[in-house]
Amino acid sequence: MANLKPNSAEARDVLFHLHSQTNPGRHAEVGPLIMARGEGVHVFDINGKRYLEAMAGLWCTSLGFSNARLKAAAAAAYDKFGFYHSFNHKTPDVTIDLAEQLVALSPIPDAQAYFATSGSEATETMVKLAWVYHAARGHPAKRKIIGRDRGFHGSTIVAASMCGLPRMHREYGLPLPGFLHTHCPDAYHGTLPGETDEAFSNRLAADLEAMILAEGPDTIAAFIAEPINAGGGIVVPPEGYFAGIEAVLRRHDILVLGDEVVCGFGRTGNWFGCQTVGMQPDMVALAKGLSSSYFPISAVLLGRPIRDALAQMNKAGELFGHGFTNSGHPVGAAVALETLRIYHEMDVVGHVRAMGARLKTGLAAIAAGSGIVGQVRGEGLMIGVELVADPLTRTAFDPDLKVGALFDALALDNGLIIRAMGDTIGFCPPLIIDAAGIDEALDLFARTLGQVEAKLRETRSPAGQAAE
Ligand SMILES: Cc1ncc(COP(=O)(O)O)c(C=O)c1O
Repeated sequence: MANLKPNSAEARDVLFHLHSQTNPGRHAEVGPLIMARGEGVHVFDINGKRYLEAMAGLWCTSLGFSNARLKAAAAAAYDKFGFYHSFNHKTPDVTIDLAEQLVALSPIPDAQAYFATSGSEATETMVKLAWVYHAARGHPAKRKIIGRDRGFHGSTIVAASMCGLPRMHREYGLPLPGFLHTHCPDAYHGTLPGETDEAFSNRLAADLEAMILAEGPDTIAAFIAEPINAGGGIVVPPEGYFAGIEAVLRRHDILVLGDEVVCGFGRTGNWFGCQTVGMQPDMVALAKGLSSSYFPISAVLLGRPIRDALAQMNKAGELFGHGFTNSGHPVGAAVALETLRIYHEMDVVGHVRAMGARLKTGLAAIAAGSGIVGQVRGEGLMIGVELVADPLTRTAFDPDLKVGALFDALALDNGLIIRAMGDTIGFCPPLIIDAAGIDEALDLFARTLGQVEAKLRETRSPAGQAAE
């Protein structure tokens, strides 16, 4: 352990705590950044340093880090009881209210809500329901699931199998058999010379159909996609992409699963990301923004055909053999209900559109004065800025330069928390951010970008020729 004071919180963390999505060796070298508290869109570390949390934690705290109403809603729910469940015909009263509210908002007609506790559980639940759907209709061999390169759907074994990110598979022998991946709709890098976005979308749909035909349409249950890829680098599909893809899927009786774990609840400037990108899912997975992550709660919204399949499968009295102890937890339901109430009161969609436009326009203006910004993309308050070696030719930086990681480290020094996904800098701030917060993010971004450019000039200068 390098330079960590014995018995300090940092040293104890390194000894006792295994971190998610963190390199263990490097963690032992650098130690943790320990956060102590939050206030609105800011968080403070144990030394009192303030950071603008421009990632809402993990794309999740839509209402910021210190919402008193959510705290009060949890406290009031705990006053009634600390737990009740939804197995064997029982349920907490408040969970019914939440289900009703979600169904009222649902982008899927005539839906029902199923509750779980994490995004991974919600995406995996959709897979099981897809299997039930096809089995009930006499097609039990329709089992395979198609995900996409650079998709992220969670960390449990099926959810990770659906991811299209090598780090989610590498050590684990994943994906499981029967989990396939098609292209990511990244038009910025994916279009061929002279190819329009429309032709690119058509090509992706044709490739998907070729894969389905090669595998056998009778073996494929569902396709899963985030409306806008989050962890894969904030990839916005070109217009018409989902219409083309869905026409292929419907032709082969393949369900469309929407992963709204990040995009749901206003993030993209509509209640759901599918509405922003013209996707028409049969089921959606919800989490994060559902409770602003003040309680671990997630949900699946399933439409009438899936409900009918479930009824058909269980008509002789069998149970729906699925459930998590904390499905529909009353405290989570109360917090989520209050979260939804606040979204309605603040006009979350209108607010996100206004703040998102301010952020995107501001980032584009900064980009115009920089030689290393290739693209500013995104919708609502989900924006990615891709740094490239040559914006004219869209040539990426040499990965060894680790430009995204450099930006991340310098931003942190400056008091700005972003997410570097390769060389794409992600912004996904709490949805309550106001104009002053956006302007603070823009100032800190511009300062950091200038520092990155200066460092790159140093590496390219004669003294640093090795990097050329
Ligand atoms: C799009 C998407 N789906 C699913 C998940 C998994 O959610 P959880 O970590 O709650 O299991 C995530 C997590 O970041 C996500 O970004």
